[in-house]
Amino acid sequence: MSTLIVYYSYTNNNRILATHLQQQLDADLTEVIPKRKRFKLSILFDLLFKRRPKIQPIKEQWSSYDQIFFIAPVWDMQIAHPMKTLLDQLKDENLPRFSFATLCSGRQGQQKSLEQQLQQHLGKPAEQVFQLEINELLPPEQKGKVQYTSTYRIDAQRIHAFDDQLTQLIESITSTDKHQKHADA
Ligand SMILES: Cc1cc2nc3c(=O)[nH]c(=O)nc-3n(C[C@H](O)[C@H](O)[C@H](O)COP(=O)(O)O)c2cc1C
Repeated sequence: MSTLIVYYSYTNNNRILATHLQQQLDADLTEVIPKRKRFKLSILFDLLFKRRPKIQPIKEQWSSYDQIFFIAPVWDMQIAHPMKTLLDQLKDENLPRFSFATLCSGRQGQQKSLEQQLQQHLGKPAEQVFQLEINELLPPEQKGKVQYTSTYRIDAQRIHAFDDQLTQLIESITSTDKHQKHADA
């Protein structure tokens, strides 16, 4: 099974998730890079004005992969805008099946919203949408408090706190692959 992981990350959390999964899945990896340097204010303006920041071109043979994995932060329930720019560009591509994962704070109702956004941008549903929630790593007194959740930075060691979920994630992709092969046979 060939997998391409495409990620965007502003403060590195999702970069660490993407590189971790790349190793686990033996996948190819490519990064969404905005054309102009981004600041916190850029994120705010993206959200306020629903902007789509320009990104550097990504030249991938999308249809040559068995599946694509998109990875990006969530900002105010929205998939990070540089990733949205790419998703819009891919709407008419012959994309293979795709999934989405994010290392985010965690917020109620977000799962459905992320599924809907992917459907809207790409015109077909994601196979899987995974949220790894920073809230789960915080002590009780810090859970759900934006000053702790939005400033939390994971590293290559701490990502192992999600090992159980990451194993499930990898298994579900592998079993989807087996199911697909069975259906195609
Ligand atoms: C302005 C802002 C808004 C955010 N909104 C949400 C949100 O609605 N839901 C959520 O789960 N996380 C939210 N987060 C948390 C980020 O998704 C989280 O910090 C993420 O790990 C950052 O990824 P990165 O380091 O790859 O850029 C927000 C963070 C910022 C800075």
